[in-house]
Amino acid sequence: MSSAYPHQFDERAPFRVAFFSTKRYDRTSFSGALTALKSPVVFEFLEARLEVHSASAAAGCHAVCAFVNDDLSAAVLEQLAAQGVRLVLLRCAGFNHVDLDAARRLGLRVARVPEYSPHAVAEHTLALLLTLIRKTHRAHARVREGNFELDGLLGFDLFGKTVGVVGTGRIGRCVVNLFKGLGCDVVAHDPMPDPGLGVRYVTLGELLSSSRVVLLQCPLTAQTHHLVNAQSLARLQRGTILVNTSRGAVVDTPAAIAALKSGQLGGLAIDVYEEEAELFFDDHSGEVIADDVFARLTTFPNVLITAHQAFFTEEALSAIAQTTLANAEAFAVRGEPLHAVA
Ligand code: NAI
Repeated sequence: MSSAYPHQFDERAPFRVAFFSTKRYDRTSFSGALTALKSPVVFEFLEARLEVHSASAAAGCHAVCAFVNDDLSAAVLEQLAAQGVRLVLLRCAGFNHVDLDAARRLGLRVARVPEYSPHAVAEHTLALLLTLIRKTHRAHARVREGNFELDGLLGFDLFGKTVGVVGTGRIGRCVVNLFKGLGCDVVAHDPMPDPGLGVRYVTLGELLSSSRVVLLQCPLTAQTHHLVNAQSLARLQRGTILVNTSRGAVVDTPAAIAALKSGQLGGLAIDVYEEEAELFFDDHSGEVIADDVFARLTTFPNVLITAHQAFFTEEALSAIAQTTLANAEAFAVRGEPLHAVA
């Protein structure tokens, strides 16, 4: 990048990126990538979440870098564009939170990190499921209290069970292979089946009614919004376990709570939650949780929640930083990010 930014920026000026929702680990991984790649990109690390009230912090920057719970609605994009921002760098795979029509209308390019470590998310899906069904989190707490009883810790074997995977893209494929390795009978549903995956594709209805465990690995789209709702939950075998590491709004949470209360749903493990933007990634331990739906979820013995950490491995953070930098540099030089979604 010696002749920096001939496409649209002053060659003498560095390519400035306002980096929203910064955590310590972001600073470490992105600063490390900048040094390793000798990149001339300059990140302005901001703790604030990107929203209407914080967007002005991007004034003077060519790009913003945003994460999953940053607000990229039309109102925010309009403000960013009016300030001269030209590029939105998502440091995540999902882009359901970006108003892509507004971005196109405003001439804003949007780039993402389509693949960083599908294994990170797939392995977290497995971790959640095994923890939930073998109750290792409860056993650990008991043992630390000097309680060595087994009552209440009864689990079940995954070997030989039917596991339904909804969405067999990059992450879903890894999930399929993990569960095949455990000796499960894996069935899948995807509008774009992968014939090379060696898995039986079935309708969503058949997947729901035949699976002991259902794993959600699809993106959030208009079609998958509340894909798990009162009707689809009613199609499950009684006591089915559901794991969601995709996006919160794929599940209608009040419907899932009703199914947990009736026993129709035997257990729920989630890494994502529809209203997570108000909670996840920050320490609220000294506050009253105002979200009654979320608070109710935390009361079930058969609900396990992690706060959007499925992506959070060393390998994934490093890959996210490298691809985000590559997107920024490609845009700065050629006006075209590597992995554009708008
Ligand atoms: P991908 O784009 O490679 O695969 C998605 C698959 O879902 C595709 O095969 C697609 O055809 C399928 N699909 C689309 N609509 C469907 C429907 N109605 N029913 C069933 N399948 C459907 O995406 P990838 O990388 O596998 O990621 C999947 C999702 O996982 C992302 O969109 C993101 O929302 C979520 N994710 C969550 C993370 C976390 O930390 N919890 C981290 C990374 C991704």
